[in-house]
Parts: sequence; structure tokens; C-alpha cells
Amino acid sequence: MTERLPPAGIARAAALLRSGALVAFPTETVYGLGADATDGAAVAAIYAAKGRPSFNPLISHFPDAASAFAEVVPDARARALAARFWPGPLTLVLPRREGGRISHLTGAGLDTLAVRVPGHPLALELLRAAGVPVAAPSANRSGGVSPTTADHVLDGLSGRIAAVLDGGPCAVGVESTVLDLSGPDPVLLRPGGVTVVEIEALVGPVSRPEGEKTAIRSPGMLLSHYAPSLPVRLEAREVGKGEALLAFGAPLPGAAVTWNLSASGDPVEAAARLFAGLRWLDAEGARLGLAGIAAMPVPDAGLGEAINDRLRRAAAPR
Ligand code: TXA
Ligand code: MG
Repeated sequence: MTERLPPAGIARAAALLRSGALVAFPTETVYGLGADATDGAAVAAIYAAKGRPSFNPLISHFPDAASAFAEVVPDARARALAARFWPGPLTLVLPRREGGRISHLTGAGLDTLAVRVPGHPLALELLRAAGVPVAAPSANRSGGVSPTTADHVLDGLSGRIAAVLDGGPCAVGVESTVLDLSGPDPVLLRPGGVTVVEIEALVGPVSRPEGEKTAIRSPGMLLSHYAPSLPVRLEAREVGKGEALLAFGAPLPGAAVTWNLSASGDPVEAAARLFAGLRWLDAEGARLGLAGIAAMPVPDAGLGEAINDRLRRAAAPR
């Protein structure tokens, strides 16, 4: 049985984490599936519960930059970004510090480590109470749509994890931006809650490796991901027979069911509603026997880059 803990259950959630159990918890981006990052057996249980390939490394979460930088070697760029964006939706990939406490399984054996300080009050309280770094991928079965509510977590992982700390819906709705600072130039491994424009204002040009190269540098960025059961059709300009519609702005006519990401065309609102929308359309599609999901175009500006990245992966051949 998976316990659903209210915000007052933080001490219980922290004790479970310290005992090596799996606890899902809210962050500002999506719900994470947490385990003690220093405990190899607990981290192995994350891979098992998600059905995640063990070559795909996990992000370690900390309550503040000082504890994160005890595990990695930050340079001036990392310090500047941390000062500006932590707590918040930015993950930094940096060289591991020798003699650090993080299990090698957390980093999938790489000599770099992904670290982040999440911008959610419950997550920060939990991390302080646990007193250990917490490894946490998104709390969904591998390849599926990321969870932005405790119900989404239970849909995929009920019975496979000890508890979920229920903090209500996540405000940002897409995962953190993953930035690799282990080489001479900053490299964007995953667009997310902090935009590239904001990062470049602080550290200069960020490069974006294409497709396959990203998969090699960041093994989690396999093309098919975030995928609902129904096929997704991108850049829809009209709705086909039996299609559900993922709308942005004024909805196209003729859809069997519609989820509007943002009627006013606001990318921030759209990001927050993306994963709940894919889940809802998928469920409605199964109930009504629909053929697929038509997704209207979303401009690439601001959080649009992260939204389009997730939609491309949802639509990719499986
Ligand atoms: O917003 C988020 O980042 C959420 C919340 C829970 O914090 N977490 C999350 O974790 O999205 P996950 O495991 O679903 O995605 C982590 C990404 C993967 O693409 C993984 O390959 C990449 O980060 N990553 C982790 N460690 C890495 C490393 N050392 N080098 C390159 N990429 C790494
Ligand atoms: Mg994920």
C-alpha cells in the first residue's frame, strides 16, 4: 500500500527516505520519485519502480547550494547560475567531487553529477528534514507522461512506492532545464522551466546539441518519452475525424474533446497545464474510442521551447 501523506506528514516522509524507502514528493516542476541518493539499494529501487534503464542517470536534490556544491565542483558560471536561479527549475551537470557521498548508481557511473535545489517549500522542508541528498526522477513509469499531481503519481506507481507527499498541483508543470557545465561551453541537455534566454543573459552563449548527440551526453533524452497511449499529431491546422484536440489560443473547430493549454496563448499557463492535458485527453480518448490527439502549434518563445520539446517526444515513433 502506498500512503498518501498530507503536508503535515513531512517528518514521516523524511523518516521513510532515511530508512531507504521510496517517497514521491512535489517540486515546482513535476512530482519527483525520491530516494536517499547515498544509498545504492534505495537508488536501485527507483530504477526498478519506474522500469527505468540503469544507464539513465538521476538528478540529486539538495535544500541549498552549499550542500549541492559539497558533491560537485562548481566553477564561476555554476555559482552565478545557482545564485540567480536556486531554489528553482534549473539542474546543473558538473564534475563529481572526489570522496562525495552520492552513490555511483545515482549518476549511472558517469564522472559528472546532476544537482538541483527545487523551488517548492514542501520539497525544501522535506530535504532539510531528511538530512540526505535525494535522488529523484519524475514520479512516472519510464517513458510515460510526467506527474503534476499526487493522483497522477498514484495512477502509475501505487503499490510500488512507500508514500506520496501531496502538495497539490505543480506550478511550473515542465521539468527543470538541464545545463551541462562540465565542458568549456555550457550545453543545453533539456529545455525546461528556466529559459535559455535567461541563462545566456548570465553566462553567455549556450549550445544545443542535435538529437543523437544529446542522447549520448544525456542518456535520458531518448526521443520517445512523455508519451500518452494515443498517437500525437503535431502542428495541427485542422482537426481530423475522431481526433481529440490539444489547443493553444482559439481552439480549432470539430474536435471530439478539447483541452486548451491556454485560451489567452500564455506559454507559462500552457506549461503548467501540459501534462495534465495529455493525461486527460488520453483517458477521454480511451473512453470514447478516439483515434489520436491533434496538437495545435505553440510558439517557441519562453517556456514554448520546453513545451515543444515534450510534444515532439510525445509524438515520436515508439
Ligand atoms: O524537474 C525535474 O528535473 C524533475 C524533478 C523531480 O526534479 N526531475 C526529472 O528527472 O525530470 P528525470 O530523471 O526525469 O530527468 C533527469 C534528466 C535525464 O534526462 C537525465 O539523462 C539527465 O537529467 N541527467 C541526469 N544526470 C546527468 C548527467 N550526469 N549527465 C547528463 N545528463 C544527466
Ligand atoms: Mg522523467
